Amino acid sequence: MQKVLILGANGGIARVAIDLFLRQTDAQLTLYLRNARRLKHLESDRVKVMEGNVLNLDELKEAMTQQDVVYANLAGPLKQMAETIVDAMHATGLRRLIFISSMGIYGEVPGEEYRSILDPYRDAAAVIEASDLDYTILRPAWFTNADEVDFETTTKGEPFKGSIVSRKSVADLVVKLALDPHLKVRQSVGMNKPE
Ligand SMILES: NC(=O)c1ccc[n+]([C@@H]2O[C@H](COP(=O)([O-])OP(=O)(O)OC[C@H]3O[C@@H](n4cnc5c(N)ncnc54)[C@H](OP(=O)(O)O)[C@@H]3O)[C@@H](O)[C@H]2O)c1
Repeated sequence: MQKVLILGANGGIARVAIDLFLRQTDAQLTLYLRNARRLKHLESDRVKVMEGNVLNLDELKEAMTQQDVVYANLAGPLKQMAETIVDAMHATGLRRLIFISSMGIYGEVPGEEYRSILDPYRDAAAVIEASDLDYTILRPAWFTNADEVDFETTTKGEPFKGSIVSRKSVADLVVKLALDPHLKVRQSVGMNKPE
């Protein structure tokens, strides 16, 4: 039974993933977010809710105690967040990290120029890739709310395919990654709905 720490647990993808974890797995979840009240109703024998800021190393280290997997679903100063997460994982001996980034961080989208709005995503990925962690970085296309799991993946170095992907598809892959310590380890994975 995996113990999964979800950082930014009130985020859009995280909330879909929490639902899948609870319905499809027996994973134990720790939901880490800035205002814990918002998810208190989910607390159960399988779900712990913790208030904390990802930029606070001490709070993060406390949250990481006794976990198997860290799933980061964040927005904002992502480079600093990635640095703090990597430091906290080193301090607590955790190795498995799933980190949601975005398509376009390597200028890999055919016909699109790299945009500086992606700098935090690109820089966070660089921090994680330079670490010795068992990471999987996800680079999803534009999210849709379609009630479907329908995606294909591309690897780093390949041109990105497609332009959209459902939130449910991203959550589905997050759950599979959290359950399988060997799946797409040390990879940066593009995700899109096949066209
Ligand atoms: N929209 C798209 O089509 C698209 C496509 C590809 C990738 N992405 C990216 O994929 C990522 C995940 O998407 P999403 O929709 O799930 O994101 P989201 O709903 O914006 O959630 C991000 C979460 O990060 C949390 N957060 C921010 N700063 C924090 C801090 N210092 N400590 C703790 N938590 C913090 C926020 O918490 P609060 O609730 O407390 O603010 C929020 O719940 C985002 O970075 C998004 O930009 C988006």
